[in-house]
Amino acid sequence: MVLLAQFWQFMLAIHIAAVVVGFGVTFAYPIVFSYGLRMDPAAMPWFHRVQVRIGKRLVNPSLAVIFLVGIYLASHLHQWDRFYVWFGVVVSLILGALGSLFFEPRELHLAELAERDITAAGGGQVVLSREYQVLNRQVGAVGAAASGLILLTVLLMSTGYP
Ligand code: HEM
Repeated sequence: MVLLAQFWQFMLAIHIAAVVVGFGVTFAYPIVFSYGLRMDPAAMPWFHRVQVRIGKRLVNPSLAVIFLVGIYLASHLHQWDRFYVWFGVVVSLILGALGSLFFEPRELHLAELAERDITAAGGGQVVLSREYQVLNRQVGAVGAAASGLILLTVLLMSTGYP
């Protein structure tokens, strides 16, 4: 029964819940992006600004919870000599740095580029510029790599590798 769980098990549940809550939405970005682009290119500034907001309000705070609770778990379970723990530490730092230094400024720039292209269309059909497409591909590639790192970390944490 949940109430009979030990405190560390409760913390493990928080650690896992923060992974789901913080990272889950980012896996939907490619779908929202490609569908949104087809449905209404004029909505792309909205999409990129929502991405920035989600990064600040959901991903970063969840990452902080994952990291701090992870430290508690590794200490309580005496796991500091295990590879998976240090892998999680490094991945968390990489994701934190990517969020603030890579994704946030580029998503803002994508929003601005899309707004510029919409204004240039003057109410006609919106064609997003090559500059927008190139930057978007760059952000998408790094996003896919970050998603891969998250999945790999979940795998290593679950198996306790090595
Ligand atoms: C992107 C970062 C991270 C992700 C996605 C992640 C994911 C997970 C998941 C899914 C579990 C549950 C595994 C299971 O019970 O089968 C877990 C457990 C755990 N995590 Fe993390 N984690 C991350 C970061 C960290 C960090 C930074 C630390 C330590 C500083 C850490 C330490 C632990 C520990 C000690 C466990 C418990 C393993 C056990 O039950 O024996 N994690 N993590």
